[in-house]
Amino acid sequence: MRVKLILQSLLVICFLKTIPHVAAAVTCPGGPIVQNARCCDLVPVLKDLQANLTAGDVCNGLARSTLRLAFHDAMGFSNTVNMGGGADGSVLTFHTIEMGYAANVRLDLLVSILQSFVGRHNISTGDFLHFAAAYALTTCPGAPGLSFFYGRPPPTVAAPDNTIPLASDPINHTLARFLDVGFTPPEVVALLAAHSIASSSLSNIFNIVPTMDSTPLVFDNQFFKEVLLPGNFPNNSVDPNQTVASPFSWEIRLKSDAAFAAAPQTSAVWQGFINSPSSLIPAFSQAMSKMSLIGYQSSNLVDCSDLVPIPSPAPSTSTTSGTNPPQPTL
Ligand SMILES: *[C@@H]1O[C@H](CO)[C@@H](O)[C@H](O)[C@H]1NC(C)=O
Ligand SMILES: *[C@@H]1O[C@H](CO)[C@@H](O)[C@H](O)[C@H]1NC(C)=O
Ligand SMILES: *[C@@H]1O[C@H](CO)[C@@H](O)[C@H](O)[C@H]1NC(C)=O
Ligand SMILES: *[C@@H]1O[C@H](CO)[C@@H](O)[C@H](O)[C@H]1NC(C)=O
Ligand SMILES: *[C@@H]1O[C@H](CO)[C@@H](O)[C@H](O)[C@H]1NC(C)=O
Repeated sequence: MRVKLILQSLLVICFLKTIPHVAAAVTCPGGPIVQNARCCDLVPVLKDLQANLTAGDVCNGLARSTLRLAFHDAMGFSNTVNMGGGADGSVLTFHTIEMGYAANVRLDLLVSILQSFVGRHNISTGDFLHFAAAYALTTCPGAPGLSFFYGRPPPTVAAPDNTIPLASDPINHTLARFLDVGFTPPEVVALLAAHSIASSSLSNIFNIVPTMDSTPLVFDNQFFKEVLLPGNFPNNSVDPNQTVASPFSWEIRLKSDAAFAAAPQTSAVWQGFINSPSSLIPAFSQAMSKMSLIGYQSSNLVDCSDLVPIPSPAPSTSTTSGTNPPQPTL
């Protein structure tokens, strides 16, 4: 009896010594193990997203658009002028106002879908949207994991118009807007990696969803390469103010992306992501995680990053160069 007790205590001590954080871990109802019990609130939200947004972790159009909406939400902030609340979910709460802005055109269907999720859970729109975006990104193979911090109060005010850069804006205007939110030019270029999994609503082409690179279902550096290819297709887009000629019949090249690839402030970083594909992952992860905290301080929130699933790696054969017409799922 005594020997058994001693052995047990020794075992416990060894265990604590090798994995010290185990003592604090909590097993949530439904399985996942988290460091902070409050994160268990998010387990039903995650299950709902997996079942009803991505049909079982598919990098579909809803998942990819959710990332875009999170970005639009977060940009409603300024370090110099008192406006907006940043990554606060105002785009969902005050959708009747914010969906009227030109930058948010055609996002209203997604907004109404996401609101149905909010209605099924006791969660603020800011926590929901930025958790949904962190999760949605992980469905796309090759994507980095993002951190997620929990505990945003409900937003109190709509973001004003003209906080989200447009593809037609001059590059200096766009860089200044990002700087006002807290992003340096290299961080802006890293954020543009989101276009690696983007599709466009600017299509002039029937029956296909045009994308911004030839691997729209894989998070990779292909987008950075293809923006540098010669533009042969000048009229893929319905809005020549926002686009320039693209290299493929199914592809849209944003005017702003072409400008970022060429501008002295950003071209070296752009080329760096081509020369060193692995550098893109930590750079995007850092910048996108930072975006989810605009208007907040992580020290006031609970770190629930351990609930963000680990993304699957990019297929090793994703070395296309325009030969694979994309088949994005809507
Ligand atoms: C999926 O959505 C339906 C409502 O459309 C809801 O009843 C169900 O609980 C959701 N699934 C999960 C796993 O939350
Ligand atoms: C909803 O969440 C808030 C904040 O986390 C909490 O104070 C409140 O008790 C919750 N309400 C219900 C009905 O669970
Ligand atoms: C944009 O900004 C750069 C550096 O800040 C400057 O050199 C350049 O002249 C600006 N371009 C325009 C068109 O204002
Ligand atoms: C689109 O551009 C091509 C040149 O690449 C031109 O031949 C064609 O007529 C244009 N189509 C339309 C509808 O403007
Ligand atoms: C493009 O910009 C011009 C000048 O600002 C404007 O008159 C035109 O309506 C714009 N075209 C589209 C398709 O928005």
